[in-house]
Amino acid sequence: MSAEVSVPLSTEVKAPEIQKGPDLKKKVKLDEEATLYSRRDFFVKTGWFLFGLIMGSWVLGLVRYMFPRVLFEPSNVFKAGFPSEYPVGEISTRWASQQRVWIARTSEGFYAILAKCTHLGCTPIWLATENKFKCPCHGSGFHRDGVNYEGPAPRALDRVKISLAQDGQILIDKGVLFQFEKGGWDKPEAFLKMAPK
Ligand code: FES
Repeated sequence: MSAEVSVPLSTEVKAPEIQKGPDLKKKVKLDEEATLYSRRDFFVKTGWFLFGLIMGSWVLGLVRYMFPRVLFEPSNVFKAGFPSEYPVGEISTRWASQQRVWIARTSEGFYAILAKCTHLGCTPIWLATENKFKCPCHGSGFHRDGVNYEGPAPRALDRVKISLAQDGQILIDKGVLFQFEKGGWDKPEAFLKMAPK
């Protein structure tokens, strides 16, 4: 007795499973979309940024317009105290640094001189011992009445408007100047007549 060997008639040979690789077409499409979106995103963001920038500048301009740059300068007019505070014969330097004005008291009244050199605008100094104004910049000299007599200053110092306020104080207005050379010192507002009491 022979042993029967069963041989399978057909041998099923299974084909090896081919591992599917990534879908290249799909991947390319996805990449394209991603690029498209990121590009679109970039343009949208840039657009918003520029829009914000323009709006910000516009708002800033509007605010600036509402608050214009104005230089608030001190007033030209100031009260210089009562006449009795000024001894006769004195050139007072009381307001020289604060208001750039000297006040002279004579036996007939008051006049006020602007402490601004007529050469290039420096502030002269009152030298009481030498009875003159001296400009430290280029050496111009002025008599006590303001007339120039040495140095490069081309003309006398300017006088400013002087009057009496309602409360009895001396009122100075630096906005009104009087030039000696133009006869300005003879005008009533250039001199405050007042005899000493
Ligand atoms: S500015 Fe006064 S002498 Fe020149």
